[in-house]
Amino acid sequence: MPKASKILAARVDELIQALNFHNYRYHVLAAPLISDAEFDALYQELRGIEEAHPALLRADSPTRRVGGGVSAKFVKAPHPAPILSLANAFSAEEVRAWYERLVRLDDRVEQAGYVVEPKIDGLTVVLHYQDGQFVRGATRGDGLVGEEITPNLATIRTLPLRIPVPTSAKLGRAKAAAKWKKGLAGPPTAPHTLVVRGEAVIYTKDFEAMNAGLAAAGEEPYVNPRNTASGALRQLDPKLTAARPISLLCYAVVEADGVQLDTQWEVLQYLRAMGFPTAATVERCADIESVIRYCEAQAQTRDQLPYETDGIVIKLNDLRLAADLGFVGKDPRGALAYKFPAREVSTTLQDISVNVGRTGVLTPGALLEPVVVAGVTVRQATLHNFNYIVEKDIRVGDRVLIKRAGEVIPYVIGPMVAARTGAERVYQMPTVCPSCGQPIERVEGEVAYYCVNGACPAQLTRLVEHFVAVLDIEGFGEKLALQLVQAGLINDVADVFRLTKAQLLAQEGFADKKAQNLVDSIGATRERLVRDGQLGRLIGALGIRGVGEVMANDLAAQFGTLDALSAAGGEELQAVSGIGPSASQALADWFGLKRNQQLLAKLKGLGVWPEAANRRQAQVADTLAGLTFVITGTLPTWSRDEAKAFIEAHGGKMTDSVSKKTSYLVLGEAPGSKLAKAQSLGVVVVDEAGLKRLGETGQAA
Ligand code: IVH
Repeated sequence: MPKASKILAARVDELIQALNFHNYRYHVLAAPLISDAEFDALYQELRGIEEAHPALLRADSPTRRVGGGVSAKFVKAPHPAPILSLANAFSAEEVRAWYERLVRLDDRVEQAGYVVEPKIDGLTVVLHYQDGQFVRGATRGDGLVGEEITPNLATIRTLPLRIPVPTSAKLGRAKAAAKWKKGLAGPPTAPHTLVVRGEAVIYTKDFEAMNAGLAAAGEEPYVNPRNTASGALRQLDPKLTAARPISLLCYAVVEADGVQLDTQWEVLQYLRAMGFPTAATVERCADIESVIRYCEAQAQTRDQLPYETDGIVIKLNDLRLAADLGFVGKDPRGALAYKFPAREVSTTLQDISVNVGRTGVLTPGALLEPVVVAGVTVRQATLHNFNYIVEKDIRVGDRVLIKRAGEVIPYVIGPMVAARTGAERVYQMPTVCPSCGQPIERVEGEVAYYCVNGACPAQLTRLVEHFVAVLDIEGFGEKLALQLVQAGLINDVADVFRLTKAQLLAQEGFADKKAQNLVDSIGATRERLVRDGQLGRLIGALGIRGVGEVMANDLAAQFGTLDALSAAGGEELQAVSGIGPSASQALADWFGLKRNQQLLAKLKGLGVWPEAANRRQAQVADTLAGLTFVITGTLPTWSRDEAKAFIEAHGGKMTDSVSKKTSYLVLGEAPGSKLAKAQSLGVVVVDEAGLKRLGETGQAA
């Protein structure tokens, strides 16, 4: 290897080590040692090197997590050991009965301890490592043969691509890293072969954030975390998997050559030391009564866990003893699932309400005959959207099945058709907004219905709630937003910054101190926005349809001021990465409205006018100037028009047919004859990601 390449390869090594380490600190330990921006800088450096020197792209590079090539179908993957089921227990009595049976079979059980773990309601996955490298991963399938989904699993942030996960990194806070290493002296090397089992899950908070983002963009939210994770992992295009916030929790070692693991507790320690995420609430219990106490306590606090569980897995700690006890059918005797009370119950759907969101989107809600689900009285549930009601044929008066899971709001699974009496009524879609009475509209290509009245009081209330939450104004909550809108003190979000102490004192619930505190914290918020140049935060707070936190920050960095953003045309907007035609249209619509221009003028007049602290130096660079592109097949995320807008915004040209003059062929799924033509002419072929990189960095992969 020439000397320069050697130096680069060493740098790549250092960067991968650092990124994998910091990724683990962030995603698995939730204890980051560096900021997101510092992480990004390391990541961009690595990506830059890999693009310029494809030979240096390693299998364990964290840049692979964005998702690689698309598969045509999944390959079958026989498991090294069958994935078994577990016998269930629904009460303390049944747990004791299990114990009694075991003692009769083998008196060692009396002295044996237990490990108790949450029974995670996710998807079982089997992960294979060769010499420390993640080489293969599969779904459960029928327990004997699964489907290989390696590229999809590789996108999971908490799945180590290489083990053991580095316990220190030269780059970024080496000292703090070394301290961590001392506390967790892991095995020095990975075994030749390691097969691990775990569950892929979506954490409740990630699920809710994802759905909030979809709702903000006017898209249909997902029904539950488990199905979402399952669907995402079975995508043929790993980029679609990468776009979903899937996590991993491991609990079993199927194979580890040369490693002697005698107890389940050791298994968990070993997994952790290698860098696998494991459940935080696992415990050791000395006897069956403490197992039962643990189960009953966990049943009470299951909602506090960050993911959904449906019970506890009780395992004999001594793996030898567990193996000796054998099986009953497919269930190993040495383990038992203590199931929590079901979260699905039936009740009567009394009526359907309609909620108006901040962008005017209307969502139906179920008003239920109150029913207790796992200890909580439920009166309302989500129905997702109006299509859902039609698809599931949910009628007012129906007996419906509802599910309450984790912190997620309960949802209606569907009607119990057999219980119908004939008195049920087919739901009539509203034609006017329940808050303001104006006609509602459906946006082409979206499932949602909207109230398009800009003066709708319900929308204003939601918008103010969003505005104060995003700006993080201390002491300003949802109740107050409603109260002040109803009192007529707030007619647009800028009015938040015009509130006076005298006005507040005239409101119910405001004494001198409280009014003063609120006025002070509003003032402090304005000061902070301007002083710290938090333009992205302000843009996000405006509640423009489809503009979430990330996009708002990108827009702020790109345009620097609201004046510049307001003046930007569609092409300029779409040149910001991640902004497609629909968001660009939503922005244009928003800034095109007179009342929004008045709102901006008002904010400016009130001094709520930050300039972005992180303004990018150049506007869109002409990175593609002089280059000609041809597209074949369907791109994973962009339409042809979007790709064209991107190419043109960066100074390039797009044509329809391949010729000697073509610089690049952009390859999508199901390409046509253009591919063969391009290859015969020696035209360079890139995929959508390659095109993006080319535009953003000017460097080809
Ligand atoms: S151990 C002998 N531990 O539950 C089989 N399984 O009903 C023991 N599961 O297929 C499996 N959390 O999908 C085990 N902490 C945990 C688990 C767990 C969830 C799932 C797994 C298994 C099923 C058994």
